[in-house]
This record gives sequence, structure tokens and C-alpha cells, in this order.
Amino acid sequence: MLEQALQYAGQNRERFLNELKDFLAIPSISTDPEHAADMHSAAEWAAAQLRSIGMEHVQILPTGGHPVVYGDWLKAGKDAVTMMIYGHYDVQPPDPLELWTTPPFEASVRGDNLYARGSADMKGQVIASLKAVEAVMKSGDMPINLKWLIEGEEEIGSEHLDDFIKNHKELLACDFCLNMDAGILGENMPSITTGLRGLAYFELRVDGPVKDLHSGLYGGTVHNPAQALAELITGMHDKNAKVTLPGFYDKVRKLSKQDHKDFARLPIKGKTIKEQTGVPALWGEPAFTPAERLGARPTLEVNGLLSGFTGVGSKTVLPAWAMAKISCRLVPDQTPEDTIKQMQKYLKQNAPKDIKWKLTYLHGAGAALTGTDNVGVKALSKALETVWGKKPYFPREGGSIGVVVQLQEHLGVESVLSGFGLPDCDAHSPNEKLHLPTWTKGIDALIHFIYNLK
Ligand code: BES
Ligand code: MN
Repeated sequence: MLEQALQYAGQNRERFLNELKDFLAIPSISTDPEHAADMHSAAEWAAAQLRSIGMEHVQILPTGGHPVVYGDWLKAGKDAVTMMIYGHYDVQPPDPLELWTTPPFEASVRGDNLYARGSADMKGQVIASLKAVEAVMKSGDMPINLKWLIEGEEEIGSEHLDDFIKNHKELLACDFCLNMDAGILGENMPSITTGLRGLAYFELRVDGPVKDLHSGLYGGTVHNPAQALAELITGMHDKNAKVTLPGFYDKVRKLSKQDHKDFARLPIKGKTIKEQTGVPALWGEPAFTPAERLGARPTLEVNGLLSGFTGVGSKTVLPAWAMAKISCRLVPDQTPEDTIKQMQKYLKQNAPKDIKWKLTYLHGAGAALTGTDNVGVKALSKALETVWGKKPYFPREGGSIGVVVQLQEHLGVESVLSGFGLPDCDAHSPNEKLHLPTWTKGIDALIHFIYNLK
């Protein structure tokens, strides 16, 4: 019964939080090979949770990369809805470590927030889903069939999940997928996300002289690789903040009048972005509003730069090489494959002859739009309204989640995208945090949601 499940969640809040802290203590950093053992521990931990809440056929299944955790409960019968619940047990690297107030893998509550890497993105969301299901299971009347797909490569583009889904179509067959990795627009702004951007991630290396040189003995005769790389990067945008890679906008869908209206209704405001980020002024394509730029326009970002001498004091050196990590956020109907070609073409056309360059594509994800006309969205919308007392917003978000397109393409399955991580949760940044009052309301909302699917 609904009441009983809500009561169970209320009574077990403290334990739920402690279990989340245990999960957060595992440094499951998917991009770092040194953490391979931690990746396995996190998968084992998730599997043990699934078993403890009464799921069956719980297995850790290999992929070409980090393993997938699967489990199900299929006793609601043939006529009941079958929902997949997606999650990822991997997290982003925690650096720069010195900026954390408390260590990233020792979860710590301060005020209303729980601070730890992965607290909002997305171990907190995985626990919210697990605990809502646990509460309903304990009440003895789980009305739907459940399948769990918990992966370990979301933060590195879900590369091997694609083949995994292709190879396990029957195991993963379902009516829709609940994906709580997309977040909520604000503490009092419940939301269901209807679109995500895609991604194409590159490493660009520029090599100049065979070794570091005395900048006095050679400066003025050898093109400095740091400068050459900076010149290439500068050329990747024009004065109007548009990306200059050849053909970059060819497949970008134009926004309709209705799209502009929908974006205008969202509570995403430039002023808030300024406050949250502390920048003196915003930047971007003048022809689009901030909400449109985040949800429906592609970008190119420099994620990191490395070259030359950056230690204490000074060193007059002309560095041998320079490197940048660069990624593009993509929108429908752009693809990572097209973007690779466009980046290569740009470099062929613009790289000077006095340096060597090498482009490596690291990973990517497709952009997605999700339908809102399905039982999952309806049930979640109603549940959010019950708990928050207001109808949810339906934003398109700027982040990427690889699995969403993979499920659409291989299984024809739509994702219901939401979550309880706030925009200012500092995901991927130091001092990532989960807002506990929102998380608690979220667990209640998921309990309502499950009963709404009856
Ligand atoms: N939870 C995020 C994605 C997200 C963020 C969706 C904000 C909606 C709003 C996810 O964990 C993430 O960070 N994904 C990566 C994927 C990438 C490495 C392919 C991202 O977006 O950078
Ligand atoms: Mn993330």
C-alpha cells in the first residue's frame, strides 16, 4: 500500500543515507585505469543492494569495458508494465583535490547538503531509485515488473554499453526506462527532461621542436606550439560565438516558433546562471536565449590545456609541444561521427605547416529528444505534482547521457528523464553536493510514481 511504503521510507531515512555514504566511499572513477578494482567494488556493492531489496537474477555482466549490473523482479504478471531503471555507478575524477572542504570520498553532511563526488551525479539518484523500490517491495504489493541496468561507463561516453544492449535485447526488453541522471531544475521546480545534448570528445596535440628550447636562442625562428595551438583554438569560434568547423551547423535542427515559446516558458534565466557561476557577464550566440543555447544549440569547449612551464617562478622556454582536450556538445541531428570529420577538416585547412598536429577522438554520445506521450512520463508527472504541489517543467538539458539514444536505437525504448540533483550541485566540480530535502522528497515521489503505474 502507498501509505505503508511512504511510512517505511520515512522511518528508514537515516539508514538510506548511511548506505548512500557507503556507496560514495568507493572511488569508482571510470576514466582512470588505476581505479579498476574500485570499479569492481562499486559494481559488487550495487549488486548486493539489488539482492538486499529482493531483486532476482542479479548478475554482474562483462562488457568490453567496465561491467554492467543487472537484476530484475518480474512477478507482477504479463499485463503489468515492465520498467527498466537505469543508473551509473561511475563518477568523474575529483581533482583539483585541494579545493574540497572535506575529502571527496568521505561523504560529509553540512547543513542541508551531503558533500561527496557522485553524491548528485549519480549515486544519490541510484540510491533514491533503490530505496523507493525497497519501500514498495516491503509493503508487499509491487505493481510492476522491474529490470535494472546499472553501468560503469556513463562518465566516459557509455562506449561499451552500446554493444551490450545490442547483445542483450531480450534480457533488456521493457516498456520504458526510468533514468534519474538528468536532474531537477530547482528546489521548487520539479522537472522531466525531454532532450539531451550529445558529445564528441577530442585530444589535440601540437608538436613543434623535438625538445624544449631556450626561448632566447630560438624564439622568433620556431613557431611556439603553445601559441600555434592557441591560434587553432581561437579560430574554432567566430565573433558571434558560432563554431567554425566546416559543416558544423548543416544538420542542426532549426527551432520552430513553438520551440521558442516552449523555451521561453522555462525558468532558466541568464541572471541565475550569472549568480551560480560568478562570471561578470554571459557569453554565447546572441541570437538565442540562454535556455535555448543550453538545450538546443551545439557548442565547442576547451576542457583543458597543457604546455610548457607552469611551475613556481619563471623559466624562459619554448616548449616542444602543447595539448588541449576539446569537446563539442551536439544537438539533433548532429552525430559524433560527422563531428570527427569536421574537426579533421578544420585542422587540415587551418593548421600551419611549421608544426605537426594529431587529433585523437576519445568518446562521444548521441543527442536525444524523448517523447512525452507515454505511461512513464504521465505517471512521473503526476507523482511530482503530488509531492511538490505543482506541475513539472519539461526542459531540454545541456548534458549528455549515452544510454538514452542507445535504448531508442536498439530497443525502441524511450527514457523518462528526471532526477533530484540541482543545477548548482557542482557535479564534476569540487565540493559536489546532494540537497537532502530534495532527495527525500524525491524518494517519496518515486514511490508515488510506482503506484501510479498500476
Ligand atoms: N548527469 C550527467 C548528464 C546531465 C547533466 C544531464 C545535466 C542533464 C543535465 C551525466 O552524468 C554526465 O555528466 N554525462 C557526461 C557524458 C559524457 C562524458 C558523454 C556529460 O554530459 O559530460
Ligand atoms: Mn556526470
